[in-house]
Amino acid sequence: MTITCSVIRGVGGYLPSKVMTNAELESMVDTSDEWIVQRTGIRQRHVAAKGETTSDLATAAAQKALAHAGMTAKDVDLIIVATTTPDYTFPSVASLVQEKLGMHHGCAFDQQAVCSGFVFALATADSYLKSGMARTALVVGADTMTRILDWKDRNTCVLFGDGAGAVVLQAQQCAPDEPRPGILSSRLRSDGRHWKKLYVDGGVSSTGTIGHIRMQGREVFKHAVAMITDVINDALADAGKSAADLDWFIPHQANRRIIDGAGRKVGIAPEKVVVTVDRHANTSAASVPLALDEAVRDGRIKAGDLVMLEAMGGGFTWGASLIRWSAD
Ligand code: ACO
Repeated sequence: MTITCSVIRGVGGYLPSKVMTNAELESMVDTSDEWIVQRTGIRQRHVAAKGETTSDLATAAAQKALAHAGMTAKDVDLIIVATTTPDYTFPSVASLVQEKLGMHHGCAFDQQAVCSGFVFALATADSYLKSGMARTALVVGADTMTRILDWKDRNTCVLFGDGAGAVVLQAQQCAPDEPRPGILSSRLRSDGRHWKKLYVDGGVSSTGTIGHIRMQGREVFKHAVAMITDVINDALADAGKSAADLDWFIPHQANRRIIDGAGRKVGIAPEKVVVTVDRHANTSAASVPLALDEAVRDGRIKAGDLVMLEAMGGGFTWGASLIRWSAD
């Protein structure tokens, strides 16, 4: 007897070419490189060019993931784009990506869980594949967070950047015994009581404006480590694994102190933690697949490695996914 596994066949990332350093921010708000590096670990971020949209970033990352998988859009029958910063109120970014890839079959839709969006989209695609509703999915996390920043608010404008990351996830029949490839377990959580701690103060049915990010940073920080470690431990338990079994930890890249705190609390050695927050800042739904892409392409993550992905964001939403890496 075999079971259906969802395995990652390829991964890709895209970062806009314009880089904004902390020094540039010093001339915009009352901040310093020293404060930003010490409190967040961020040194620079990428910023989308004028006219460069979330679907442009998402398409570029999707194309790289397809090339890495040795596939084309013809092989895909599901696109899920995790984003909070769509090109238009509608259609979805996923529909635009589908069109830009020249794909006219299958289905495409967006998923919105802010910074946790990619982990949520990956779990959704995993369910589609395991239930037989789709065979090959493009799962993209893409955001242009700099478009919803208040560049006069030093509490938030130093924290975010733009980017996109994508994976190709494919259903595969495999033996039920160990070691199984692909997504081994996923845990998703949300708690709407916290929405005002991190939100955008505009929207279609409230103000009719786009709005800007507002955040109670200390409150977010206070909850982040506990929430993240809970879902990581649950995802490990679901798969009958422990932190000691992990080869790599790919956390959401919001703040170096949150990453270090979560790693310490779960018991993951620092050398197993993939960090990009220093160069990318917080790219929201793109941060996890961008970090995954970097660690795969530089040869750190190898076939057979056990990888834990996690994210936490507005809502609050939070989630974790345990994967046995299968792409070479
Ligand atoms: N430059 C200089 N000073 C600043 C800046 C800045 N950019 N931003 C805030 N400050 C000041 C504050 O005004 C405050 O001054 P005060 O004491 O005179 O009032 C002082 O620094 C300390 O502020 P705190 O908010 O206590 O600073 P903290 O050490 O908590 O760091 C930070 C702030 C980095 C936002 C932190 O709380 C954090 O990372 N929180 C998590 C938020 C996050 O990561 N959000 C991303 C989205 S959610 C997610 O992805 C998980």
